[in-house]
Amino acid sequence: MQTLFITGGAGFIGSALVRLLITESDWRIVNLDKLTYAGNLESLADLIDHPRHIFRRTDICERAALDALFAELQPAGVIHLAAESHVDRSIHGPGAFIHTNITGTFTLLEATRGYWMTLDSAAQTAFRFHHVSTDEVYGSLGDTGLFTETTPYAPNSPYSASKAASDHLVRAWHHTYGLPVVTTNCSNNYGACQFPEKLIPLMIHNALSGKPLPIYGKGDNVRDWLHVDDHARALWRVFEQGRVGEVYNIGGHNEKTNLEVVDTLCALLDELQPRADGQPYATLKTTVADRPGHDKRYAIDASKIADELGWQPQETFETGLRKTVRWYLDNPEWVAHVVSGEYQHWIERHYSA
Ligand code: NAD
Ligand code: DAU
Repeated sequence: MQTLFITGGAGFIGSALVRLLITESDWRIVNLDKLTYAGNLESLADLIDHPRHIFRRTDICERAALDALFAELQPAGVIHLAAESHVDRSIHGPGAFIHTNITGTFTLLEATRGYWMTLDSAAQTAFRFHHVSTDEVYGSLGDTGLFTETTPYAPNSPYSASKAASDHLVRAWHHTYGLPVVTTNCSNNYGACQFPEKLIPLMIHNALSGKPLPIYGKGDNVRDWLHVDDHARALWRVFEQGRVGEVYNIGGHNEKTNLEVVDTLCALLDELQPRADGQPYATLKTTVADRPGHDKRYAIDASKIADELGWQPQETFETGLRKTVRWYLDNPEWVAHVVSGEYQHWIERHYSA
């Protein structure tokens, strides 16, 4: 059985990837996560005792802990998702982003390289370090055009600048040391188990609580939405089949303004759980001050991963968003535990790692 390290496996995308690989691969998954505010093992409650899922509470900035795990568990690859991920938090407190996203990726790369150099040459060749990154490294688009893998980097927020730096480190560790890396840059994800600070889960949570739905600026910024399970399938395809040293953009062909997203969510909630007072949820929409440096438009050209690796998203925005709203309606305790802070004690009650 081959062993894969997944960093950030208790986060939104990481937990979807762990779930996919426990269900659809025969790899042993070692989930390395510090459990910051964004890490939530409740998202993996049904898999926590699975014989092929090993959780180790680990900070990617701590080299000695990483060295010990590599020596003990001997992975055949790493998929690196651990990061500080929320743009608004990066504006208010960039330090954690520099530390985790840049120093953490550097520390993980060095630990990986130290271990990789101990492998025999066949194992070195087969090894993969897959870095999971974002389309925000390319900056902001005007009304036309798409991000390709050769779009010049132009990050605008502390978050995207820290991710851009980590992308460059990964590239350098390949070119300088020969570490077999692949990098993916993905557009906005949505789906189950997303922390309710990001647009879609925040709007669902606020709507169901009868709170205002805060729309930054005019609500005309555009994002290209991808269901998290489509992202997880793309990550696995790139890990298994991507060419070493290459970059693959991942996107859902779903460009929407923020207002379009919120209006669609409100209409779905009107249908699936009408308000007690009979008012449409859209009456809760409120415009608020814009995000500083707010990128206008993101849109991905995903033709490279489609043409080379045969990946296509399975969800449309309509099917994916309906599933997502259904999940939040069916799992109110997941959000309630996040709001109350109870989720941060889940590990003490259920797991001894
Ligand atoms: P998330 O914030 O939901 O999860 C991040 C996870 O990383 C958490 O479980 C957290 O505990 C863990 N973590 C943070 N610091 C750590 C550290 N020092 N050591 C170990 N673990 C640590 O993030 P997400 O939305 O799941 O994003 C995962 C990755 O995908 C990130 O690298 C992000 O930049 C990238 N990405 C996200 C999106 C998106 O739309 N969410 C899109 C493209 C790329
Ligand atoms: O593009 C990929 C990126 O997508 C990822 O790398 C990031 O980790 C992820 O957080 C996401 O970044 P965004 O800033 O695009 O996502 P967010 O959900 O924070 O915001 C989406 C859009 O909605 C953005 O234009 C800002 C707007 N917004 C957001 C919030 C939280 C609002 O109008 N109101 C809000 O309350």
